[in-house]
Amino acid sequence: MADRNKNDAAAQHYMPTMTGDYSRISDTAKAVDYKILPAILAYIKSVAPRITRMDTDTPFVIADYGAADGVNSSVLFENIIGQIRAINPSLKIRLVYNDIAVRDYFDRFWAGSRLKQLGGVEADYIRRSFYEALPEIKGKLHLGFSSTSLHWLNTEDVGTEFFQHPSHIQANQLPDKDRRKFVEKWKRDWRVFLRERAAELGEGGALFMANLTNRGGDRWPASAGYNNLRDICHELCREGRIKEEECKAIFVPDYFATPQEMKSLIGEDGLAQTFDLAFFEEMTVPCAYYAQFKNQLDDEQAKGKLADILAHVVRAWSESSIKTGLAAEDKGEIEEIYHRLRDRFYHAPGGLPYEYCLLELVKR
Ligand SMILES: C[S@@+](CC[C@H](N)C(=O)[O-])C[C@H]1O[C@@H](n2cnc3c(N)ncnc32)[C@H](O)[C@@H]1O
Repeated sequence: MADRNKNDAAAQHYMPTMTGDYSRISDTAKAVDYKILPAILAYIKSVAPRITRMDTDTPFVIADYGAADGVNSSVLFENIIGQIRAINPSLKIRLVYNDIAVRDYFDRFWAGSRLKQLGGVEADYIRRSFYEALPEIKGKLHLGFSSTSLHWLNTEDVGTEFFQHPSHIQANQLPDKDRRKFVEKWKRDWRVFLRERAAELGEGGALFMANLTNRGGDRWPASAGYNNLRDICHELCREGRIKEEECKAIFVPDYFATPQEMKSLIGEDGLAQTFDLAFFEEMTVPCAYYAQFKNQLDDEQAKGKLADILAHVVRAWSESSIKTGLAAEDKGEIEEIYHRLRDRFYHAPGGLPYEYCLLELVKR
């Protein structure tokens, strides 16, 4: 977990940050970068005349929203920079990394990064919610990027009681009538996100997003992870290890919108006049870890290793939220929750595929 607990009030607020080793256990998320690369390279080619004309003192600005430590987008960014430099070799590049996590992980990444060694590449880390403005790059942004982050709802503008449910721990698990308020919140949040990015992008600049999505049934990202966590919480409640109020308060504050919801939001008045939806594609990225182990599941050791990794992956993105729901005296139950999760993955091995929607929005 990246950064929690300066004081009790903060401890009660949802801060969906990842574990410090997130970039080492997020191969499934990393794989989507290769899928979005061709669309980004095609865009750069299409604006080549503009890149050629750019004055060498003005950097080409690239921002990564919800970047974690910056590791996962680094190969993608190397490719992008390579293409830009093939057009205008002396152009300076400014990378802007944004996340709500503390900057220490980014500093560690940047110190040893190959991007830093390219020369003529500078980087900033802005620790802020992407639901806020980044005036540092207002009107200066050429290319915005965000991967696997925009399902996190803005937790700052509602109380923690908004994220509660007696029987489920995530919005995509809810029946339609209970889910509605999260869909409405997701729409409000995305309008804010897109309004702020529109202010940062220069004319003709583009925003590329690899967004987790719900493609129907259990085809929403890591659904087995969320469902197992929910069932474990109820099990602990039945055993009297956690209280009913805690079960109600344990909630992961994210929502995986459907591709149709994303498309219709972008088509709304206001947004449709601001952005041209240049590219839109749905896809499944198979679970990177299950693919490695699926032919060895009769080997107990391999099965155990897969279960360890899957529980670790789920813990990376859920622990900060689960802890928020646990009362101070029960925070220790967190170890039991992930121990039981590992057991479930061991006894019923399966993958955690991620469903994505890739979008390219070009500012008109
Ligand atoms: C699943 S990670 C994805 C990291 C990286 N982009 C990748 O593709 O692997 C989601 C990231 O979003 C960040 N995040 C969540 N809510 C945010 C917000 N409101 N503003 C900025 N970052 C946020 C988390 O801290 C986390 O680093």
